[in-house]
Amino acid sequence: MNKFFLSILLITGLVSCENSAQKQPFSPGELWLDNNGAHINAHGGGIMFNDGKYYWFGEHKTEGEGGNMANVGVHCYSSKDLINWFDEGVALSVDPKGSESQIEKGCILERPKVIYNTKTKKYVMWFHLEPKDGGYTGALSGVAVSDNATGPYKFIKAGRANAGYWPLNVTERHKTGPIPSEGQYYGGGSLPDHPDTLNILARDMKGGQMARDMNLFVDDDGKAYHIYSSEDNSTLHIALLSDDYTEHSGTYTRAFLGRFMEAPAMFKKDGKYYLMMSGCTGWSPNQARSAVADEILGEWKELGDPCIGDSTKTTFHSQSTFILPVQGQKGKFIYMGDRWRPQDAIDGRYIWLPVEFEGERFVIRWRDSWTLDDIK
Ligand code: DGJ
Repeated sequence: MNKFFLSILLITGLVSCENSAQKQPFSPGELWLDNNGAHINAHGGGIMFNDGKYYWFGEHKTEGEGGNMANVGVHCYSSKDLINWFDEGVALSVDPKGSESQIEKGCILERPKVIYNTKTKKYVMWFHLEPKDGGYTGALSGVAVSDNATGPYKFIKAGRANAGYWPLNVTERHKTGPIPSEGQYYGGGSLPDHPDTLNILARDMKGGQMARDMNLFVDDDGKAYHIYSSEDNSTLHIALLSDDYTEHSGTYTRAFLGRFMEAPAMFKKDGKYYLMMSGCTGWSPNQARSAVADEILGEWKELGDPCIGDSTKTTFHSQSTFILPVQGQKGKFIYMGDRWRPQDAIDGRYIWLPVEFEGERFVIRWRDSWTLDDIK
């Protein structure tokens, strides 16, 4: 069919745009317009596939530096082809100023992810929450639920993770060793070379573990996991959720002790679990890390930087947020990263690239433009 005739049919709606959209390329780092012509506003996001559609949830950012705070909430878009995104609006709204809600406007609400529970038939959203005016000291996990994929989501609670439980791989030293005081250490900068000796784990055992950068993963058996940077970002936790996905179960493990892994994104291929992560340098990009495991709760083995080519020291100027399995195309995955623009948060860009496999590891190469057909 010639191009002119095809455009007439598309304009008049006589053929669906899905087939032609397959050929439209992904253009990492460029403005990505939704059906209204607005740049997609779903940062630190993740994608849920449900009932034939992809749903992209992410932080709704606003203009300027203040736009990194949650002034609006979590935005949702839907798509059938991963290229054309329909604006579904705000899925979870923050509460008005002065409401004293934990998700009051001006809080920090980051890296929201949604999973569907087939037993309860509820959509469950988790996110990293820092109540207003507390900086990043809260390290809380927020939960919201909805009967519909696109929301509205109802905020249920936020708190620390796995309060009162030791991890599966706790050591005697953690149980009986000295405990630092709350708030004594914050962020990556002030920790010594071997933060594990500080026993932040024991410090937070009763009140619950810190959780900042996070992700969710649903395994083939329907069990869901919360993966989060804990212990002042120094150590990653992988935690089994309750059957309804709204709570921590108390079963969790520590991984990558003292490695300051942020931005965890998990996926599974041929029975093996993979993680992509970043280091811990605020909004500035850094070199990515990757790891593999036979069991989700470990042992995890680091595989190094998965990026190949120029700009790999900065993960192609991005930070991981999700690794998306392409539906119906077994073994095809897409790396989703954020190119943050902290001075004008709303202008943050999306870096989506094909994930390839070489031996036991996965790799990511830069492409200016690509289509799903390019994923081997
Ligand atoms: C890096 C994290 O990955 C982001 O989600 C955000 O928390 C920034 N740090 C804040 O500096």
